[in-house]
Amino acid sequence: MKSVNEIRSSFVDYFRGKGHEGVASGPLVPRNDPTLMFTNAGMVQFKNVFTGVEKRPYSTATTSQKCVRAGGKHNDLDNVGFTARHLTFFEMLGNFSFGDYFKDEAIAYAWELVTKDFELPKDKLLVTIYSEDDEAHAIWKKVAGFSDDRIIRIPTSDNFWSMGDTGPCGPCSEIFIDRGEHIWGGPPGSPEEDGDRFLEFWNLVFMQYEQQADGSRLELPRPSIDTGMGLERMAAVLQGVESIFETDMFRHLIDATASVVGKAPTDETVASYRVIADHLRSMSFLIAEGVLPSNEGRGYVLRRIMRRAMRHATLLGTNEAAIYKLVPALVREMAQAYPELSQGEKLITETIHLEEERFLKTLSRGLQILDEQAGSLGEGDTLDGETAFKLYDTFGFPLDLTQDALRNRGIGVDVSGFQNAMARQKAEARANWSGSGEAATDAIWFGIADRVGATEFLGYETEDAEGEVTALVRDGAEVDSLGEGEEGYLVLNQTPFYAESGGQIGDTGEMLVDGLRVEVLDTHKHHGVFAHKVKVLSGTVRKGKALGLHVDHVRRAAIRANHSATHILHEALRLVLGDHVAQRGSLVAPDRLRFDFVHTKAMSAEEMAEVEEIANAVVLQNAPVETRLMGVEEAKNAGARALFGEKYGDEVRVVSMGETSGNALGWSVELCGGTHVRRTGDIGLISLTTEAGVAAGVRRVEAVTGHVARQRGNAAVATISAVAGQLRSSSEDVLDRVASLQDQLKRAERALSEARQKLAMGGGSSDAEGGQQGETVNGVSFVGRVVEGLAPKDLRGLVDQAKKQLGSGVVAIVGVSEDGKAAVAVGVSSDLTERVSAVDLVRAGSSALGGQGGGGRPDMAQAGGPEGTKASEAISAIRDTLSGA
Ligand code: ALA
Repeated sequence: MKSVNEIRSSFVDYFRGKGHEGVASGPLVPRNDPTLMFTNAGMVQFKNVFTGVEKRPYSTATTSQKCVRAGGKHNDLDNVGFTARHLTFFEMLGNFSFGDYFKDEAIAYAWELVTKDFELPKDKLLVTIYSEDDEAHAIWKKVAGFSDDRIIRIPTSDNFWSMGDTGPCGPCSEIFIDRGEHIWGGPPGSPEEDGDRFLEFWNLVFMQYEQQADGSRLELPRPSIDTGMGLERMAAVLQGVESIFETDMFRHLIDATASVVGKAPTDETVASYRVIADHLRSMSFLIAEGVLPSNEGRGYVLRRIMRRAMRHATLLGTNEAAIYKLVPALVREMAQAYPELSQGEKLITETIHLEEERFLKTLSRGLQILDEQAGSLGEGDTLDGETAFKLYDTFGFPLDLTQDALRNRGIGVDVSGFQNAMARQKAEARANWSGSGEAATDAIWFGIADRVGATEFLGYETEDAEGEVTALVRDGAEVDSLGEGEEGYLVLNQTPFYAESGGQIGDTGEMLVDGLRVEVLDTHKHHGVFAHKVKVLSGTVRKGKALGLHVDHVRRAAIRANHSATHILHEALRLVLGDHVAQRGSLVAPDRLRFDFVHTKAMSAEEMAEVEEIANAVVLQNAPVETRLMGVEEAKNAGARALFGEKYGDEVRVVSMGETSGNALGWSVELCGGTHVRRTGDIGLISLTTEAGVAAGVRRVEAVTGHVARQRGNAAVATISAVAGQLRSSSEDVLDRVASLQDQLKRAERALSEARQKLAMGGGSSDAEGGQQGETVNGVSFVGRVVEGLAPKDLRGLVDQAKKQLGSGVVAIVGVSEDGKAAVAVGVSSDLTERVSAVDLVRAGSSALGGQGGGGRPDMAQAGGPEGTKASEAISAIRDTLSGA
């Protein structure tokens, strides 16, 4: 008997043997379709190949595709566990022809595979076709030899497949197997078709059209083939079991559940085991792709799936977290085909565990209220919408969980009452907000948020995706379109563009779709709505338009490196400077990063070097960067660094990186909503550029990483060798060379100053003013001189020397330095200080030089002034003062 894993391989191998390219599963969150919540069929990743927009190097392909049908057009959530064939997560095996072969080969391949390789009994098989498709009828007749009653014509959309409201579509033919009279049910098209006796396991779609949003259909460039075989259904058929939950893979998952809850399934409880097994698969695969439980969009569908599974675990008698313990069993079953499960095992386990802990806190109280309110109700009654809303709002019960809990008692829920209560709460929030008096432009964004809801951010996982325009803003008002050359803001239902927050600046890039080109200049966030600041380069953007969204990869990669480097520097600074280092602000740009932190004094060069050393050691570890969703308290208890004074929701993203023996999560652990590198090695290099004070007790470091750091290093090296060349030295010796040149210079300066002094005292200098020794002013010998190029510090010595030579008298010297400023010193011999004060004289000189004051003692005073050109006037002013004394 073939296992599920073997059946998957057989299918793919069969088509590879027929020349098909084996292609890996596309992601569950489609990158190329904004209208789809989750990938719901194998053809989704090929959507643009069918329409001719995208080219691949092959024209036929085969895949095993991960699919989720929960939310959106194909939603099986409510049925899971209660039927033998519905799942929220399943694998679709498919073969595809992109304008290569068409109906003939598609039917012939299918027939050969199921009858030869899978050895299904021909007489138990039958097919449906779209009622108008005579061609398919004829081919089936020829290939399988079916009589007319086994080629059933179906006139409804059941046999016209489309992946969503728009996209490639076409008539289809489904293959069924009759599993025998012992199972209830009738052939397709009969009143009993919903029974399980006739099981559809393969759908062949003859892709011919592309459905447009306005209801019209375009012909595809070339007719194509898209088929989908439900792996789990095929396994049930090949393993001879009635329900997909009895196939080997599900048996193993159910056994694992039984051992965790400590009980084997019974007829009454088996549905809960099935729900858990199915939901375990969908939640794990979604989390592995980076979808995390939330209250919006995909995250909310995930949360509904998780909480539904958790309620079923409590139905089995568990009252503590249990589902996360099943992850290893799932990894054992499926990681070989889908390695993302083993790679993401830790994240998956932790995310489920956290959600369980969180939900279990309110689950039992919520169930109690549900029991109280529904206790008096019986089959056919409905639970009031207010109670359903209270369960949702206070106890975190998604509506479908409440419905699920009441279903087997035949009790419904007043859904419109629930929605009214929800609308009322929103209206109250709105009323409260408009009273808060925020800026008028903000009112637009609040209105948009209220109408279209928060934008789903895809940018942690991808930098290219599609999004549908939900609002446009120009000049502070909502508009219906933005034309060529116009600037404004675009809002989309989902986006890979990061909106500025937490210091990380907004993404830029472009949005493209046939003929339309939009440049994204910046991205901001208002009330959860991402506002893409754009300029339309060609074409016109309108509401409802689906656009290809492309973040500037190079710029984003640099931003990611700088953001991760900021975390690393934060921790390195703390290690070097002490625990008081706390973040006060940051800027993460593509070309640099800035980090402000609490620290009272300037960092020394040694401290800077040590921080850089530690930071680069973490870069070289090339350790993985991990992101987890955690409760805010739990995160803080785990040592995660948070921004002081920042308001966080109760769930936070925790980013950790680096190896350590200390914190279990990592060397650096921070609450952060930003985007990061995958491994620390991606940063390349961290180089600190500046350190300075920005406010009392707050320092700022700036740094560069990667190419910028390398270029900066290279530029520094180039400068040093240029300097060495100029100094006729080598880079290694240049420091010694500079020291010896400085020494030489000092000696030369000293010699020059001595020469000047000599010259000054020797008289006869053309600079000297009234410089004859012993000029007599007011009965006192007076020497007054101007000396060019004399440093102020040398003035005093010169005055002293002249005073000594003079014996009794007054000496005034003005030195004019290189920069044109002047200094003046006056000396008075001690026998004269009673009559005249050096301080008074120097003040007169200083004021002539445009200076103020001056100070010293009666026998020696000194002052300065900005105007060196007035040196002679200063000497005259001193002389005049002396003559009046
Ligand atoms: N795309 C087709 C389906 O999902 C094969 O049934």
